[in-house]
Amino acid sequence: MSKSIGFDFGSSCIAYCDGDKKDIMMMPSAVAFNRKTKQVLAAGANARKMVGRNPNFIEIVKPIKGGTISDTNSVDILISEILQRFDADSVFKKTEFFATIPFGISKSDENAFDTAFLQSRRATLDYVYTPIAIALGAGMPLDISTGRMIVDIGAGHADATIISHGGIVTSSSTKTAGDAITAAVAEYIAEAHGIEVGELTAEAIKIKLGTLDPTKPSRSIKICGKVRPDKNPKFANQITASSVITSHELIPIIAPFADKIVETITVLLEKTPPEISSDISDFGILLSGGSAMLDGMPRYLQQAVGVKISTTKAPAQDAARGLWRVIRGGRAYAKFTKI
Ligand SMILES: Nc1ncnc2c1ncn2[C@@H]1O[C@H](COP(=O)(O)OP(=O)(O)OP(=O)(O)O)[C@@H](O)[C@H]1O
Ligand SMILES: [Mg+2]
Repeated sequence: MSKSIGFDFGSSCIAYCDGDKKDIMMMPSAVAFNRKTKQVLAAGANARKMVGRNPNFIEIVKPIKGGTISDTNSVDILISEILQRFDADSVFKKTEFFATIPFGISKSDENAFDTAFLQSRRATLDYVYTPIAIALGAGMPLDISTGRMIVDIGAGHADATIISHGGIVTSSSTKTAGDAITAAVAEYIAEAHGIEVGELTAEAIKIKLGTLDPTKPSRSIKICGKVRPDKNPKFANQITASSVITSHELIPIIAPFADKIVETITVLLEKTPPEISSDISDFGILLSGGSAMLDGMPRYLQQAVGVKISTTKAPAQDAARGLWRVIRGGRAYAKFTKI
């Protein structure tokens, strides 16, 4: 009996699937170690919960950066954690792994994936370039002869890619993505409200309140955190304080990051062959990745680039869904795996 499992490794999350089931599952890509003994204390969601609350002896490693592995051992731990979630009672004779990798990855970065997946496992490993997986996951037909643009805005990077005939034509990328927006939201709250919030709180505020759409009524939430009396003298004798923050005040904080993504798309359009440019005008751009869910992002990019933008219902899962299609599609989809 063999088992096929697909992994889309991101700097914030691993989206993974079991070829036998349709659900896509997510796990934060973080591992907590005892700094001294190197003992693993937690992996996935439990490790992520410790971010900003970890005592000095706990080190939290996020082992994926820019779609490549910065720490093979931690990735191996995360893979093991995921494998444990599959029917513990079934002993797989053979495991087939499918993983997304960024286009243009170097041989040594690819080797790091091989090592993390295969060093201690009896398994095979096939790769699919991330934008191809996204296209398949979003339901684009096989072998489309027209060119399409995929824009993937994740946590650590945003990639714009032109695909045609099931392969990659050209791409362009920036490190400006969700993490940078979260950091800017935290910095703004410290500067303008005199309140310091941790990474997880800043991300939650971004997800709940962040917007790029000034046409919607402004929403507000009350935030609490450690005071920065240097920024707000009103808090001089307090340790913690609260303040009300509105969605509209975040627009100018987030917009420069969206502009950077517009620039990345524009750079790509400039180097896109003319035939494909007209395909992009006709078919628009597929926006993917978790940051595609930022309120108003598709609309903002559409207005700035002048091309229709579409998204799926779960843009952070498109790539893993595409791997699932490759697994289920068997031989017909084998050509999408990079050998
Ligand atoms: N509803 C939302 N609104 C705004 N941002 C969101 C939302 N949901 C998730 N995000 C952001 O999306 C990012 C995660 O997206 P995704 O899972 O695609 O990234 P990743 O694949 O882990 O990262 P990368 O591809 O850059 O390595 C995070 O920055 C997260 O804050
Ligand atoms: Mg990603």
